[in-house]
Amino acid sequence: MSAQYQVHGDVAVITLANPPVNGLGLATRQGIVDGLNRAQQDAAVKSIVITGAGGAFSGGADIKEFGTDKSMQEPNLHSVIAAIENSPKPVVAAIHSVCMGGGLELALGCHYRLAAPGCSVALPEVKLGLLPGAGGTQRLPRVVGVEPALNMIVSGETVKSELIGFIPGQKLFDKMAASAEALPEEALAFARSVADTRPLPLVRNLPCKHPQGDAYFQFARNMVKGMSKNYPAPAKCVDAVEAATKRKFADGMSVERELFINLMWTPESRALRHLFMAERAASKIPDVPSDTPKRDIKSVGVIGAGTMGGGIAMNFLNAGIPVKMLEMKQEALDRGLATIKKNYEAQVKKGKLKQDKYEQRMALLSTTLDYADLKDADLVIEAVFEEIGVKEAVFKQLDAVCKQGAILASNTSTLDVDKIASFTKRPQDVVGMHFFSPANVMRLLEVVRGKETAKDVLATVMALAKKIKKTAVVSGVCDGFIGNRMIERYSQQAGFLLDEGATPQQVDKALEKFGMAMGPFRMGDLAGNDIGWAIRKRRALERPDMKYSRTADKLCELGRYGQKTGAGWYDYQAGKRDAIPSDLVNKMIEDHRKELGITPRKISDEEIVQRLVYALVNEGAHILEDGIASKSGDIDMVYLTGYGFPIYRGGPMHYAGEQGLFNLVQAMNRFAQNPRDDQAFWQPAPLLAKLAAEGKTFS
Ligand code: 3HC
Ligand code: NAI
Repeated sequence: MSAQYQVHGDVAVITLANPPVNGLGLATRQGIVDGLNRAQQDAAVKSIVITGAGGAFSGGADIKEFGTDKSMQEPNLHSVIAAIENSPKPVVAAIHSVCMGGGLELALGCHYRLAAPGCSVALPEVKLGLLPGAGGTQRLPRVVGVEPALNMIVSGETVKSELIGFIPGQKLFDKMAASAEALPEEALAFARSVADTRPLPLVRNLPCKHPQGDAYFQFARNMVKGMSKNYPAPAKCVDAVEAATKRKFADGMSVERELFINLMWTPESRALRHLFMAERAASKIPDVPSDTPKRDIKSVGVIGAGTMGGGIAMNFLNAGIPVKMLEMKQEALDRGLATIKKNYEAQVKKGKLKQDKYEQRMALLSTTLDYADLKDADLVIEAVFEEIGVKEAVFKQLDAVCKQGAILASNTSTLDVDKIASFTKRPQDVVGMHFFSPANVMRLLEVVRGKETAKDVLATVMALAKKIKKTAVVSGVCDGFIGNRMIERYSQQAGFLLDEGATPQQVDKALEKFGMAMGPFRMGDLAGNDIGWAIRKRRALERPDMKYSRTADKLCELGRYGQKTGAGWYDYQAGKRDAIPSDLVNKMIEDHRKELGITPRKISDEEIVQRLVYALVNEGAHILEDGIASKSGDIDMVYLTGYGFPIYRGGPMHYAGEQGLFNLVQAMNRFAQNPRDDQAFWQPAPLLAKLAAEGKTFS
């Protein structure tokens, strides 16, 4: 069912019923029109109420329909709103909980609007790379004023009904209900009170002017310039609202419609819509039902108060969950505690955190040197040195002291979670929780599922991740999990490019122009080049045939580990993070080329970007084949939230689809011909080859 119809005496009530948020999909739109028609035909009905079932009035157009025939199929949202406006009987919107996008536009088409307090009101289309496309840009300015409306449309931000409902002189809502519970009865009473009012008020008939006209819109364009560099939608929102002030209503609607359709076809909007869906899908695990019972997490233990332990602890303190931090020595605890305090104090100083909140958070933190103090913890996260022997000792102690049912997690970035689980007698309770540095800032959390990890452990950790505002993505056990396994291939290509003629600056610039937060060499300097060095040494033993450039090893042999040693691929001035190109490094690269007998060639930015990004994609395809990630959107989420991949490109796997997988494979075949590159490297993953041949994408 998509919309219900009931008659309460002389009032017909149409209830949108399309869970979870009453998205205005085709069936729901048809349901509204059918309801309106029934109400018109029933002489006993004098007025009509439209409301929403469950936890929303409406979350707007059905995003899942976008890009399909259904979204444009009649009755489209314009026709539904026209049917409401043309209704000879008054139509009252009874709004509660969530009223967004097309939902708000539908309400603006109604003759009257009644809202419950606490309702989230927004035109968030801009966050999907769109603008409100069913009259929102034309009607909202008429009821809340041009400036408040443009602010809402350009930011997409949510406003509470009680705030926006009371802007003096404005009329978004005709009445506020006493409460959400009272709304249905009040809506019926209101509908009866206006049953005989004629003519019926229409928002479209209200005036829409801005006293400063051109000057204001010029100012607005300047304001959105910064935010719209890679996003076309905000500037188009300004155009549409300006049209509302300068054109007749119908002409303004045409402008809005044209802009909306054009935006719908932009790669940026496709990427943002993909992100919306992928983010929600990532929280679902195919074989773990959403109603899986979860364990109660009321207290957390963190082992190790180093770089990661401190940041991990802060996540839980921020969410109001008490943390006990354990270290080997008091000095290490003191150091960890001081770092946490320093972080919070910096936030207080910047006005981002109130002093009393800071104190409340610190009061939730306690420290210990004794494992026995972790006996009551519901979850313990280990963040000690990355050595399997150290992990073994820690997990054996945890197994001995922790209560039954406690979740034991490791923050390991490279070690085998199954092996770690085997150090305990409860492998079902062991899981990887791979945070990214700085752990209190980075959104990504890779949840590493061991072969014996229990489903309720996974369900609990996924729910907890939401509570601490992380984007959790499930990864199977493999070297590097999803993110680092792929980045190794990307770094490998970056190395070959140096051998062939590129400089670190050129590679970084090309990738940064593509939109990466940081190019691979600046990223290496930030993370520490010694980490990759250690991995390459291990690889050299495991896979001696593996081809890679030796430049990064040479850099480390010079002690240039990156920012932490004041020098890496770039030079750094004391206390500063600006990457200064290094003559010494460039000479080292040139000497290395000479040793290999390579005559450098000019490499285009296009080739640089393709080789690095396609290297990610091919490994991503292997990861899907191996079942390490269950869907391509998960891989995209890892790269969007943990590796600075540009949001407007939707993640590597989505981007690959935009390029066309066939074209990707062609380019890879071309790269394989390069004698300086690695032929085996560019062998397309079978899944990639298959999808390319079938003309499909990963999603
Ligand atoms: N269409 C289809 N499904 C939607 C949806 C929509 N507009 N909005 C939310 N959903 C789905 C989600 O995909 C999710 O589905 P799932 O349970 O299968 O994963 C479910 O609703 C719950 O969503 P959240 O996890 O986000 O739940 P929250 O309670 O945290 O938030 C919300 C609810 C505030 C409605 C939030 O989902 C949201 O902001 N939705 C997007 C609203 C939006 O952008 N609307 C504009 C659409 S475009 C439009 O209207 C065009 C028009 O101008 C022509
Ligand atoms: P770190 O060296 O900064 O901190 C480790 C801390 O653990 C030290 O304070 C040490 O005293 C303590 N410790 C060591 N053995 C212990 C024991 N037996 N009992 C209690 N405390 C002990 O290391 P870092 O960087 O915080 O890394 C920790 C873990 O997190 C590692 O497994 C690492 O691979 C992983 N990781 C690191 C990331 C990073 O960027 N640093 C990113 C993601 C994961």
